[in-house]
Amino acid sequence: MTDFAIIDDVIPLQLISLMVNSWMRYFERRQSKERVVWSPYKGQPNSIGYTRDDFQCLYRACQFPWNPKENDPVLKEICSLANERKGIHASDPQQTFNTVSWYPPGSGFMREHIDGGISPLIHALVPLTFRGKDYDEGGLRIKKRNGEWVDIEWLVKPGCVVLYDGTLMHEVLPVYGGIGRMQCFPLANEFGSIEDDPRNLAHVSIGKIVKARALLFKDKIRTLLGREQNYR
Ligand SMILES: [Fe+2]
Repeated sequence: MTDFAIIDDVIPLQLISLMVNSWMRYFERRQSKERVVWSPYKGQPNSIGYTRDDFQCLYRACQFPWNPKENDPVLKEICSLANERKGIHASDPQQTFNTVSWYPPGSGFMREHIDGGISPLIHALVPLTFRGKDYDEGGLRIKKRNGEWVDIEWLVKPGCVVLYDGTLMHEVLPVYGGIGRMQCFPLANEFGSIEDDPRNLAHVSIGKIVKARALLFKDKIRTLLGREQNYR
Protein backbone atom coordinates (compact mmCIF):
# COMPACT_ATOMS: atom_id res chain seq x y z
CA MET A 1 0.00 0.00 0.00
CA THR A 2 1.25 3.50 -0.86
CA ASP A 3 2.24 5.67 2.10
CA PHE A 4 0.93 8.91 0.64
CA ALA A 5 0.15 10.66 -2.64
CA ILE A 6 -0.20 14.30 -3.63
CA ILE A 7 -2.66 15.14 -6.41
CA ASP A 8 -2.24 18.59 -7.95
CA ASP A 9 -4.87 20.91 -9.45
CA VAL A 10 -7.92 19.48 -7.67
CA ILE A 11 -9.25 22.49 -5.75
CA PRO A 12 -9.96 25.77 -7.61
CA LEU A 13 -7.66 28.47 -6.24
CA GLN A 14 -10.50 30.93 -5.71
CA LEU A 15 -12.11 28.50 -3.24
CA ILE A 16 -8.88 28.43 -1.25
CA SER A 17 -8.76 32.25 -1.09
CA LEU A 18 -12.39 32.36 0.02
CA MET A 19 -11.76 29.80 2.77
CA VAL A 20 -8.66 31.50 4.14
CA ASN A 21 -10.19 34.97 4.10
CA SER A 22 -13.46 34.00 5.75
CA TRP A 23 -12.15 31.55 8.35
CA MET A 24 -9.06 33.53 9.30
CA ARG A 25 -11.31 36.43 10.26
CA TYR A 26 -13.12 34.12 12.66
CA PHE A 27 -10.15 32.22 14.06
CA GLU A 28 -8.09 35.36 14.72
CA ARG A 29 -10.77 36.55 17.13
CA ARG A 30 -9.81 33.47 19.20
CA GLN A 31 -13.22 33.23 20.83
CA SER A 32 -13.79 29.48 20.90
CA LYS A 33 -15.31 28.31 24.16
CA GLU A 34 -15.33 24.58 23.40
CA ARG A 35 -12.57 22.03 23.04
CA VAL A 36 -11.63 20.52 19.67
CA VAL A 37 -14.00 17.66 18.83
CA TRP A 38 -12.34 14.27 18.39
CA SER A 39 -15.24 11.82 18.75
CA PRO A 40 -18.44 13.36 17.36
CA TYR A 41 -21.78 11.74 18.06
CA LYS A 42 -24.84 11.50 15.84
CA GLY A 43 -26.76 14.78 15.88
CA GLN A 44 -23.90 16.82 17.38
CA PRO A 45 -24.24 20.55 16.71
CA ASN A 46 -21.55 22.20 14.60
CA SER A 47 -18.67 23.44 16.70
CA ILE A 48 -15.57 25.60 16.61
CA GLY A 49 -13.18 24.27 19.20
CA TYR A 50 -9.82 25.27 20.61
CA THR A 51 -7.50 23.02 22.57
CA ARG A 52 -4.08 23.79 23.97
CA ASP A 53 -2.49 20.97 25.95
CA ASP A 54 0.58 18.70 25.87
CA PHE A 55 -0.65 16.93 22.72
CA GLN A 56 -1.95 19.74 20.53
CA CYS A 57 -2.66 23.41 20.04
CA LEU A 58 -5.16 24.27 17.32
CA TYR A 59 -8.56 25.64 16.43
CA ARG A 60 -10.90 23.34 14.52
CA ALA A 61 -14.35 23.95 13.08
CA CYS A 62 -16.48 20.82 12.57
CA GLN A 63 -19.56 20.81 10.34
CA PHE A 64 -21.85 17.80 10.29
CA PRO A 65 -24.11 16.48 7.51
CA TRP A 66 -27.33 16.87 9.51
CA ASN A 67 -26.83 20.68 9.70
CA PRO A 68 -26.98 21.59 5.98
CA LYS A 69 -28.38 25.10 6.48
CA GLU A 70 -25.62 26.08 8.90
CA ASN A 71 -22.73 24.63 6.91
CA ASP A 72 -20.24 26.67 4.90
CA PRO A 73 -20.87 25.80 1.22
CA VAL A 74 -17.24 26.51 0.30
CA LEU A 75 -15.95 24.12 2.96
CA LYS A 76 -18.48 21.54 1.78
CA GLU A 77 -17.38 21.93 -1.85
CA ILE A 78 -13.68 21.61 -1.02
CA CYS A 79 -14.25 18.55 1.16
CA SER A 80 -16.47 16.99 -1.50
CA LEU A 81 -13.73 17.42 -4.14
CA ALA A 82 -11.18 15.95 -1.72
CA ASN A 83 -13.46 13.01 -0.90
CA GLU A 84 -13.93 12.24 -4.58
CA ARG A 85 -10.16 11.76 -4.88
CA LYS A 86 -10.36 8.91 -2.43
CA GLY A 87 -13.44 7.46 -4.09
CA ILE A 88 -16.13 8.75 -1.74
CA HIS A 89 -19.14 10.43 -3.31
CA ALA A 90 -22.19 12.07 -1.77
CA SER A 91 -24.20 8.89 -2.23
CA ASP A 92 -21.55 6.71 -0.63
CA PRO A 93 -22.67 5.14 2.64
CA GLN A 94 -19.42 6.00 4.40
CA GLN A 95 -20.03 8.78 6.87
CA THR A 96 -17.84 11.85 6.94
CA PHE A 97 -17.88 15.32 8.43
CA ASN A 98 -16.07 18.43 7.28
CA THR A 99 -13.42 20.29 9.22
CA VAL A 100 -11.19 23.32 8.88
CA SER A 101 -8.24 23.64 11.26
CA TRP A 102 -5.92 26.51 12.11
CA TYR A 103 -2.55 26.10 13.81
CA PRO A 104 -1.77 29.60 15.12
CA PRO A 105 1.75 30.95 14.54
CA GLY A 106 3.92 30.65 17.63
CA SER A 107 1.77 28.02 19.37
CA GLY A 108 0.15 25.62 16.85
CA PHE A 109 1.29 22.00 16.78
CA MET A 110 0.11 18.37 17.12
CA ARG A 111 2.35 15.66 18.53
CA GLU A 112 3.07 12.48 16.63
CA HIS A 113 0.22 9.98 16.64
CA ILE A 114 -1.66 7.45 14.54
CA ASP A 115 -5.40 7.73 13.88
CA GLY A 116 -7.71 4.90 14.85
CA GLY A 117 -11.28 4.02 13.91
CA ILE A 118 -12.34 3.03 10.42
CA SER A 119 -9.84 0.86 8.53
CA PRO A 120 -8.30 1.34 6.04
CA LEU A 121 -8.05 4.97 7.03
CA ILE A 122 -7.22 7.08 3.99
CA HIS A 123 -7.20 10.80 4.71
CA ALA A 124 -7.70 13.48 2.05
CA LEU A 125 -6.23 16.70 3.36
CA VAL A 126 -6.39 20.07 1.60
CA PRO A 127 -3.69 22.58 2.63
CA LEU A 128 -5.00 26.16 2.62
CA THR A 129 -1.88 28.05 3.72
CA PHE A 130 1.64 27.27 2.63
CA ARG A 131 5.04 27.32 4.27
CA GLY A 132 7.33 29.89 2.71
CA LYS A 133 4.36 32.01 1.65
CA ASP A 134 1.91 32.17 4.56
CA TYR A 135 4.10 30.94 7.44
CA ASP A 136 7.79 30.25 8.02
CA GLU A 137 8.33 27.00 9.91
CA GLY A 138 6.68 23.72 10.91
CA GLY A 139 3.79 21.74 9.44
CA LEU A 140 2.81 18.17 8.60
CA ARG A 141 5.23 15.31 8.34
CA ILE A 142 4.47 11.62 7.89
CA LYS A 143 6.55 8.57 8.80
CA LYS A 144 6.63 6.14 5.90
CA ARG A 145 6.53 2.38 6.41
CA ASN A 146 10.28 2.23 5.86
CA GLY A 147 10.76 4.52 8.88
CA GLU A 148 11.67 7.65 6.93
CA TRP A 149 9.96 10.92 7.93
CA VAL A 150 8.68 12.98 4.98
CA ASP A 151 8.22 16.75 5.21
CA ILE A 152 4.88 17.13 3.42
CA GLU A 153 4.89 20.93 3.38
CA TRP A 154 7.93 20.83 1.16
CA LEU A 155 5.89 18.98 -1.48
CA VAL A 156 2.50 20.70 -1.54
CA LYS A 157 1.20 23.61 -3.61
CA PRO A 158 -2.13 25.46 -3.76
CA GLY A 159 -4.96 23.38 -5.20
CA CYS A 160 -3.53 19.98 -4.25
CA VAL A 161 -5.02 17.17 -2.16
CA VAL A 162 -2.77 15.06 0.09
CA LEU A 163 -3.91 11.45 0.40
CA TYR A 164 -2.26 9.51 3.21
CA ASP A 165 -2.78 6.52 5.43
CA GLY A 166 -3.85 7.81 8.85
CA THR A 167 -2.53 4.64 10.49
CA LEU A 168 0.99 5.87 9.69
CA MET A 169 2.66 7.98 12.38
CA HIS A 170 2.21 11.69 11.61
CA GLU A 171 2.53 15.02 13.36
CA VAL A 172 2.35 18.78 12.88
CA LEU A 173 5.63 20.35 13.90
CA PRO A 174 5.35 23.70 15.74
CA VAL A 175 4.21 26.43 13.37
CA TYR A 176 5.91 29.83 13.36
CA GLY A 177 5.50 33.03 11.41
CA GLY A 178 2.95 34.70 9.17
CA ILE A 179 -0.71 33.73 9.54
CA GLY A 180 -0.03 30.14 10.61
CA ARG A 181 -1.16 26.90 9.05
CA MET A 182 -4.73 26.23 7.88
CA GLN A 183 -6.15 23.08 6.30
CA CYS A 184 -9.47 21.51 5.26
CA PHE A 185 -10.11 17.93 6.12
CA PRO A 186 -13.15 15.69 5.54
CA LEU A 187 -12.97 13.08 8.28
CA ALA A 188 -14.45 9.58 8.13
CA ASN A 189 -16.36 8.62 11.24
CA GLU A 190 -18.76 6.00 12.51
CA PHE A 191 -21.27 8.21 14.27
CA GLY A 192 -22.81 6.58 17.31
CA SER A 193 -25.62 7.76 19.56
CA ILE A 194 -24.45 9.86 22.46
CA GLU A 195 -26.52 7.68 24.81
CA ASP A 196 -24.37 4.66 23.85
CA ASP A 197 -21.07 6.46 24.41
CA PRO A 198 -20.40 6.70 28.17
CA ARG A 199 -17.02 8.40 27.73
CA ASN A 200 -18.52 11.17 25.61
CA LEU A 201 -21.75 11.31 27.61
CA ALA A 202 -19.86 12.37 30.73
CA HIS A 203 -18.80 15.60 29.01
CA VAL A 204 -22.02 16.52 27.21
CA SER A 205 -24.77 18.60 28.80
CA ILE A 206 -28.43 17.58 28.79
CA GLY A 207 -29.11 20.63 26.61
CA LYS A 208 -26.76 19.38 23.91
CA ILE A 209 -28.26 15.89 23.99
CA VAL A 210 -31.71 17.42 23.49
CA LYS A 211 -30.35 19.59 20.66
CA ALA A 212 -28.77 16.54 19.00
CA ARG A 213 -32.11 14.74 19.04
CA ALA A 214 -33.86 17.81 17.61
CA LEU A 215 -31.30 18.16 14.78
CA LEU A 216 -31.64 14.49 13.85
CA PHE A 217 -35.42 14.77 13.93
CA LYS A 218 -35.35 17.82 11.62
CA ASP A 219 -33.02 16.00 9.25
CA LYS A 220 -35.33 12.97 9.22
CA ILE A 221 -38.28 15.19 8.31
CA ARG A 222 -36.22 16.81 5.56
CA THR A 223 -35.41 13.37 4.19
CA LEU A 224 -39.04 12.22 4.38
CA LEU A 225 -40.06 15.33 2.45
CA GLY A 226 -37.75 14.21 -0.33
CA ARG A 227 -35.06 16.80 0.16
CA GLU A 228 -31.36 16.03 0.24
CA GLN A 229 -30.45 12.98 2.29
CA ASN A 230 -27.40 14.00 4.19
CA TYR A 231 -26.13 10.85 5.79
CA ARG A 232 -27.11 7.30 6.57
FE1 LIG B 1 -4.06 12.48 12.80
